[in-house]
Amino acid sequence: MKKLTLLIMALLVVVTLAACKKETVNIGIILPTKDEPRWVQDEKRFKDALKDTDYSVEILFSQGSTVTELSNVDTLISKGIDVLIITPQDGSAAAAAVEKAKAEGITVIAYDRLITDTDAVDYYVTFDSVAVGEAQAQYLVDQATGTGNPLYLYAGAATDNNAFLFFEGAWNVLQPKIADGTFEIKNSSEAIGLQTKAVLTRSEMSDILGQITTNWDFNTAKNLAETHLTNATTADKGDVFILAPNDGTARAIADAFADDTEITSYLVTGQDAEVASVQYIIDGKQSMTVFKDVRTLVNDAIDMAVSVLDDDTVVTTGSYNNGEIDVPAKQTEVVVVEQSNVVAALITSGYYEESLFENLD
Ligand code: GAL
Repeated sequence: MKKLTLLIMALLVVVTLAACKKETVNIGIILPTKDEPRWVQDEKRFKDALKDTDYSVEILFSQGSTVTELSNVDTLISKGIDVLIITPQDGSAAAAAVEKAKAEGITVIAYDRLITDTDAVDYYVTFDSVAVGEAQAQYLVDQATGTGNPLYLYAGAATDNNAFLFFEGAWNVLQPKIADGTFEIKNSSEAIGLQTKAVLTRSEMSDILGQITTNWDFNTAKNLAETHLTNATTADKGDVFILAPNDGTARAIADAFADDTEITSYLVTGQDAEVASVQYIIDGKQSMTVFKDVRTLVNDAIDMAVSVLDDDTVVTTGSYNNGEIDVPAKQTEVVVVEQSNVVAALITSGYYEESLFENLD
């Protein structure tokens, strides 16, 4: 009888331990919002990449709220995570959230967007964001002939460090072409005031972003573009060039410009190779996008997390200063996609199924 009781107790312990183990999450992932296809894409790629891992993972979304982001961090801390992979909703506000995680001994990896003004970020995986802005601007420069071409500038959210890097890259390439008269800025008095300066300070960029930010939001972008078109004279229209920071805002801005009868033609940039924008490119409604192969970023983040969990050396290739420390970083290159290379870059590479698109030939 005694033996049987002992056996039952031992079994209970095993079952309880197994149950506890199930509750524990090794890697917590927090993404900013499900409302933008870019981040749904990241979720899908994380799930694909993690299918065969032995470590348990949980992915949460902050839905554009720093409050939700903080409670997501709390939830994951309570589940015992050892590594947190996080794309901040607001790069500076997220400092408090990751400091909480750090205090619990959790390794923090900033994913795509840097978390600023804190020493609680261990690593950063990112695309080359300055190169994104440079590629967008270079596309516009390559299509422009003559002088006085109307230029409309748009930017991402001022709470996102990337928005500054994208704009910095774009400015590097556009500014000389504004200074030599190829382009004339039509929608930002701050940018016009600074157009002779080759390199802008962060606060100068803030002044410009204050006038041209889309907040990464489709409706904000559309309303802003409509306001700019209402304020523009007929001479400010015609054949125009538009720097749009990403695909969601590019489609919104493109729709607004397409609706204006005084716009003869427009060229508009983008970023992310979202399915809807790839279709816009095929249909000639968006000019280009900058493709960021999320599979690479996901693999880099997981490799880092697994190295941490396995006590191996984490591989980085450089660093980014976040205002407080130099964060060791791994950076990935980007690819320009326009009508001519949609198939090669996105279909042949296995990134998207051909059946997602119409009129692709
Ligand atoms: C950036 C990101 C872009 C874009 C944007 C809007 O931080 O690098 O790919 O999606 O946010 O969410």
